[in-house]
Amino acid sequence: MMTPYKEIKDYQTCLFEKFSSSQDEERFERYQHSIGVMKKAIELIDLYHLPVDKNKAMIAGILHDYAKLLTKSEFEDIVLRHALPLSVLDSSPKVWHALLGRWVVEDELDIHDEEILSAIEFHTTGKKQMTPLQEVIFLSDYIEDQRQGKMYEKVRNIAMKDYKKAIAIMLEDTITYVRSRNLPLHPYTLEAYEDYKKYKKEVHGKLEEVLETIDRNLVENIMVYDVRNFSSLCDYVIVTTALSETQMFAAIHYLSEDFILRGIEKGHGWSLVDLGDIVVHLFLKEDRELYGLDRLYINIPKVSIQK
Ligand SMILES: [Fe+2]
Ligand SMILES: [Fe+2]
Repeated sequence: MMTPYKEIKDYQTCLFEKFSSSQDEERFERYQHSIGVMKKAIELIDLYHLPVDKNKAMIAGILHDYAKLLTKSEFEDIVLRHALPLSVLDSSPKVWHALLGRWVVEDELDIHDEEILSAIEFHTTGKKQMTPLQEVIFLSDYIEDQRQGKMYEKVRNIAMKDYKKAIAIMLEDTITYVRSRNLPLHPYTLEAYEDYKKYKKEVHGKLEEVLETIDRNLVENIMVYDVRNFSSLCDYVIVTTALSETQMFAAIHYLSEDFILRGIEKGHGWSLVDLGDIVVHLFLKEDRELYGLDRLYINIPKVSIQK
């Protein structure tokens, strides 16, 4: 059944009333945190042009902690009512509000959209191969602006440059923290880390070096596309405009001096420099428009470039 979308403010009211009925001392901070997660999710979607329904992201952001203040017996009721495996209660109580929260949201708020519900379900543990919406809610929960502390700051900064890498670092830090305190670690979190740790790899450092090499007043309008989930041929595609044919050749020359090239192809007003995990397309201005490569990559996540 489709979710009967209410207005975002209606869900905010639902959450506010839910938390207000609790005696938890931090209930108003928790409410503000949920609003913060909603805002951060939209910021990430906009920054990376992620193929995510913003309305669903806002709902998942607001409601991700909807079940946060339930009691143990209320969680046990949910397990029985939905005939869920009792083993879910063997996991740390800290993850119940996520793994079981999706059922509370479904029962109480009549939301049946699997994308929203699964983003709520995995917002604490993460999981391998998360969807963009699950990723955005998982990361936003950690880096929304009200979270204060060194770790949050570090991951927040990385998230503005490479959100997949931020997820990898966040998982790594969580695992280190949980283990250092002998707390139970959910298997989903370990599986997520095994899956996401590849995003910490060296290629990102190389990407910054490549950008430095071509950005010596040779090119303008640099776009970096993160194709790691879409291509087995390379990790990043750079599309940029050379200021003139001479500048284009100069950029190729500098790239060939600084890196090992896998190949070069040349067309009219266009050159492709293959550096293995990174491919650079250099266009003259009118030819960039003509080839339309940026339009082809419209739904591919973009890496934000810090100048
Ligand atoms: Fe949570
Ligand atoms: Fe949260």
